[in-house]
This record gives sequence, C-alpha cells and structure tokens, in this order.
Amino acid sequence: MKIISNPHELNNYVKTLDKTIGFVPTMGALHEGHISLIKEARKNNEFVVVSIFVNPTQFSKDEDLDKYPRKDEADKKICELSGVDVLFFPNAEDIYGDDEVSLLAPNVRGYVLEGHTRPTHFNGVLTVVNKLLNIVKPTRAYFGKKDAQQLNLITLMVKQLFMNVEIVPIDTKRDSDGLALSSRNVYLSKEQRKEALKIPGSLNLASNLIAKKVLDTKEIQEKMLDYLSPLEVFYVEILDREFNKVENVEIGNTIILVEVKVGETRLLDNIWL
Ligand code: PAF
Repeated sequence: MKIISNPHELNNYVKTLDKTIGFVPTMGALHEGHISLIKEARKNNEFVVVSIFVNPTQFSKDEDLDKYPRKDEADKKICELSGVDVLFFPNAEDIYGDDEVSLLAPNVRGYVLEGHTRPTHFNGVLTVVNKLLNIVKPTRAYFGKKDAQQLNLITLMVKQLFMNVEIVPIDTKRDSDGLALSSRNVYLSKEQRKEALKIPGSLNLASNLIAKKVLDTKEIQEKMLDYLSPLEVFYVEILDREFNKVENVEIGNTIILVEVKVGETRLLDNIWL
C-alpha cells in the first residue's frame, strides 16, 4: 500500500492508471463500518483509494476538533489488511489555503436536521468532498447510509455540479447490542452506552408499528419521542428519500432519522424503509 499526502502527487498518480477507482473518504478512527465500505470498493473496482483527513471546516468553533479520535497507526494497518492500494493522508495545509473558495450547502436541505444545530457543518463537508473527489477522480465513491443527510447532499452536489462519479450508499453496520458503529462511540461511558441503546430501540419500535400497519408519521414520531425520553433529542423525523416531510410512511420511499445527545456526544441513526 502506498501512502501519499500531497494532493498533486496523488492526482498525477491516478492519472497514470487506466483502471476503475473506488474511493472511500474517511476521518479515520476506522471501524467495521468503514471496512464494509472498503470491501465494497475492493469488490467492484480495480483500484482502491482511502483518504484519512479530519476536516477542520466541518467542525464549528464550539466543537472540539482536537478531541476527535485519531488512530493513525491502527488505521494504516486496517487499510493495508483490507487491500487498499493508496492511502491519502494529507495535512490541513495540503488541502486548504489562506483565502478559500468554498461551497455552500443548499439553503433548505443543508439547514434542517443536523444542519439546524450545526449550520456550517455541511458547507465544510461539501467543500472537502468536492476537493477529495477532484484529487482522486474516482469511478465510484462510497458513503455510509448512517450519515443519511450527508449522503443526500453529496449525491445532490454530484448531480448539480455535473461531476463524473457514482455515489454508492452502503448499509449501516451495528454492534451486537444494536448501536450503529460510529467513531464517536468511544466517547461513551458504560452507562451512556446503555442510554444510547434507546436510539436503535426507537427505530425498532417504529419498524414494529409500521409492520402493524401504523403508517401515520405523526403517531410514529410521538411514540418514538416518548420512548427516547429523557434523552436530549435533536430530532426524530420521518421523510421521503428526497428529504421531504410526509404524512404517511410509504414503504420503499421513507427514511426515519434520529439524532440524540448522550452526555456530550451527538449520535445519529436511521432506517430506510
Ligand atoms: O463522513 C465522514 O467521515 C466525513 O464527513 C467525510 C465524508 C469523510 C468528509 O470529511
């Protein structure tokens, strides 16, 4: 596995390849969820690039960028063992200059849900993903469905900016207790982890109601909020796949999304119906 930190070097390197390229952008602290993205990229492409870059522009001033978990050596091992061809490992100065052109998230979809409480977050995500896609020039790029709003906005960006890459969504991986895998789970104490299990629990509750033909989104939302109490809930939303509010669940076109704060940790999860 080759490790490259200079964007121009990587850009020149991939230009010489006459191969399909699968790309997995990450912020490191890799877990089984990331590994499943890498496996999928490995299966369907001749060449695989993973990036590890804790992107400062997607953190707001009151969020602790410096505390974001970093496991560089373990991550390199995981990439090597997963058959990654190139690991892109830039510094912030390799990616950002002094006076930056940046992308703005769309006015509606970028400022609801996670964007409501983190208004600059998706500007940073779209800016960095745009840069990374321009550097790596992949055939396909892989993103987890757990970050459903991120996935939706990146898909929209690729369409609206006429970018030549296929965005591939990958199912959420869960621990044996049902909690969705996230690099942020390491922040949870034993007690907080127990509380966090209310998140998948609330999504199971919704699935069970829907299986019993309860399709009214208000009713489902209220029952989920009751179940999640007394956790601090940022949102429970039931939307169609285009992120519009809906009155009734439509199987094949609905996402139920939850974001909750446990201790100081924001945790999100969702199910696609
Ligand atoms: O999902 C993430 O890890 C990040 O938001 C991403 C897509 C790598 C951009 O920094």
